[in-house]
Amino acid sequence: STGVRRRDDGVVEVGEVGVDALAAEHGTPAYVLDEADFRARARGYRTAFATAFAEVGTGVDVYYAGKALLTVAVARWAREEGLRVDTASGGELAVALRAGVPGGELGLHGNNKSDDEILAALDAGVGRLIVDSLVEIDRVAALAASRGVVAPVMVRVTTGVHAGGHEYISTAHEDQKFGLSVNPGRDGGDPPAMRALLAAVERPELHLLGIHSHIGSQILDPAGFEAAARVVLRLRAELAERTGVLVDEVDLGGGYGIAYLPGEVPLDPDRIAKDVASAVAAVGAELGTPLPRISIEPGRAIVGPAGLTLYTVGTVKPVALDDGRVRTYVSVDGGMSDNIRPALYEAQYHAELVGRSSAAEPVLARVVGKHCESGDIVVHEVQLPGDVRAGDLLAVAATGAYGRSMASNYNLLTRPPVVAVADGGSRVLVRRETVEDLLALDLG
Ligand code: LLP
Repeated sequence: STGVRRRDDGVVEVGEVGVDALAAEHGTPAYVLDEADFRARARGYRTAFATAFAEVGTGVDVYYAGKALLTVAVARWAREEGLRVDTASGGELAVALRAGVPGGELGLHGNNKSDDEILAALDAGVGRLIVDSLVEIDRVAALAASRGVVAPVMVRVTTGVHAGGHEYISTAHEDQKFGLSVNPGRDGGDPPAMRALLAAVERPELHLLGIHSHIGSQILDPAGFEAAARVVLRLRAELAERTGVLVDEVDLGGGYGIAYLPGEVPLDPDRIAKDVASAVAAVGAELGTPLPRISIEPGRAIVGPAGLTLYTVGTVKPVALDDGRVRTYVSVDGGMSDNIRPALYEAQYHAELVGRSSAAEPVLARVVGKHCESGDIVVHEVQLPGDVRAGDLLAVAATGAYGRSMASNYNLLTRPPVVAVADGGSRVLVRRETVEDLLALDLG
């Protein structure tokens, strides 16, 4: 977990900086990122996978999935810890490039990339474009030809393995927009995945690096990764049989789950790396093919636990429930515009009073935002000290991933800053938006 400690006076410190000082200096709401924690997790994933795959005789690249949270400093931290960066739009690509990440260490994803995005990637010399459809193969080939370059591509396939949370299921067909299915087409011909791979092998404007699979997010059971790895390695062997081309790389995507609530157990990178490496080694031996280089794309597992959101309490309102209980609605100065995940996924979070200690009896509380919407819930149910009141500081843990990156300006709220703490000090990575920023976009 983050470098979070409670002092004797009850004030919580993150990275040795008190939240009272953070609130005074940067205001609230604010996203607070513990740089040392981010770096440790990045290193942890890189080391775990490098070690496990070295034991079975192949190498690994870890791409930090920038969609979870990308700022120039964050991209730099990732690179300094030996990670590459996975981007999913021209905007993410631009931030990674500004951070000085070399093009060759970047990947570009997307099921509907624009010509401008593909060209920006080619011009930056990205290490890989992950193509997501048959038509995109033609588009990338044409754009590469227009620039006189050969585009390095991976083909994103859907393996029939769906994972996320505690469940994973195998389905024959996948009713979603990403990737190309490994299952036969309706006409009984080659599966779309194989067709795309064959097309990519044939195109002189493309260099087929390998096969990509991403099975889901917030996965806490390693079985899905192992199953997907088996499917992808079989597909690779089949492509080699048919074309003589044994592609060098296999990407197993991201999706490594984290703990959001006290007592939850996150996926352990050492364990998952060992499990996946032995699954890959076993199927490699069974197929008699040399192992590919492996890559993975964790986002949430690197940045999620490294971040928390600091809010100030405003209105506190007890509401009588039908069953006789009382629920205390604790309103904070942000809400669904800085964290859409509870409203979108019914995601669960934990909140704590962090600016002082309290000996008051805990009450059943719901932390809500300030938006004009009753679904504007930050924490559905949590025990907070009964004397919680306006001016108190509340922290919500594990908001580093998909908080700021999915933030909006609903009700024309200004998006909070991203503040990094390190070495006992704090630094603004992304400044708070102002109403002037919003007005500047409105041309009347
Ligand atoms: N690679 C690919 C191709 C992906 O599509 C994703 C996530 C990742 C890597 C990183 O996954 P992670 O390790 O962060 O789970 N907004 C949702 C999550 C959407 C994830 C989409 N793709 C949320 O807030 O839970």
